[in-house]
Amino acid sequence: MGLIYGNWKSNGSKELISQFQETPFAEARGLTFAIALPATLLTCALPPGLKKGAQNVSAYGPGAYTGEVHAGMLLESGATFSLVGHSERRQIFSETAEHTSLKIHHLWRAGLSGVFCVGETLQERESGQLPTILHRQLNALLPIQGDLLIAYEPVWAIGTGRAAGPSEAEEAHAIIESWFLDQGLHPPAILYGGSVSTENAAALARVGRVAGFLIGGASLKPSSLLAIGQAFASVRQSSTPSP
Ligand code: PGA
Repeated sequence: MGLIYGNWKSNGSKELISQFQETPFAEARGLTFAIALPATLLTCALPPGLKKGAQNVSAYGPGAYTGEVHAGMLLESGATFSLVGHSERRQIFSETAEHTSLKIHHLWRAGLSGVFCVGETLQERESGQLPTILHRQLNALLPIQGDLLIAYEPVWAIGTGRAAGPSEAEEAHAIIESWFLDQGLHPPAILYGGSVSTENAAALARVGRVAGFLIGGASLKPSSLLAIGQAFASVRQSSTPSP
């Protein structure tokens, strides 16, 4: 019922994984927990109840691509998914729409699932470009040939402590859903990401279109990750979300 995904970014260690052993993720009913790990930790076993994924994948297959980790390597590590197109990859590492397209298609060919991240800058939102930006990013998915989640992550909300409000998340999730409907496709589950915390998780969970969260900073603490999931689940159990 709720998809609670963590993104450790360039953080974490074997020691941090061992801290997650003591937290009862597997007992949280109706929730799927997952962590997008740094590449060096991908071969580590995660505790029961935590799915393992990567944060990035090569836009190429095997070969002379120094520093790259291709989709087949992720599969062999036991990862079941990878993030693609995170705004830090797009902004700091100049990842283009073409890169995101190559990456997601490599994942699908390897039988892995993609968590495709989209989101606008503050300037883009304020100048009325939200639909245009999201559509342009989503176009890289075509043709859709495998398993997919979308993470809507407004750039201005990532790592800033300023999460989108429920109506801002609702608006963007509705735009994403209608893009899929326009392609004649059933929309996949859409996560919200950007400064999700134990304080704002319940309010965001009340947005019916939010299928779960992609959590950066707060996912580094097992008790916070679990508490965010529990907040999501308790809202969904106690109310019929809108719309
Ligand atoms: P944050 O990061 O929760 O620390 O804002 C979210 C993300 O980048 O996926």
